[in-house]
Amino acid sequence: PSTPYLRVTPSMLRKQTGRKGKDAWMALNGKVYNITPYAKFHPGGIPELMRGAARDGTKLFGEIHPWVNYETMLAACLVGLLMEEPEDGS
Ligand code: HEM
Repeated sequence: PSTPYLRVTPSMLRKQTGRKGKDAWMALNGKVYNITPYAKFHPGGIPELMRGAARDGTKLFGEIHPWVNYETMLAACLVGLLMEEPEDGS
């Protein structure tokens, strides 16, 4: 059976900046989340949250608030799993 998750490549992730009509996505520990619906609730504010947009925010997140349970908070915002870039571009 196929995985229920979308597989997200780094180049797909890089386009999800929150600008140009696209949602902002962030990878955290191998999972990719749509952070746009959460942004207005972020206690640290939208610009701070968006420092992790369109990329792997794992290290940054862990440096600031490793105690925050993002997996529960963003469960409804899970987009898929981060994968490696295919070498043949397919
Ligand atoms: C608080 C930055 C991602 C949830 C904060 C604060 C900063 C910050 C600077 C402190 C605000 C203050 O006390 O004045 C960032 C950055 C992120 C990020 C740079 C990018 C990786 C996230 C994500 C979540 C989240 C993905 C949850 C889904 C929270 C919560 C607090 C907080 C719950 C309050 C924590 C507490 O007071 O113990 N953030 N954040 N943040 N952030 Fe983030």
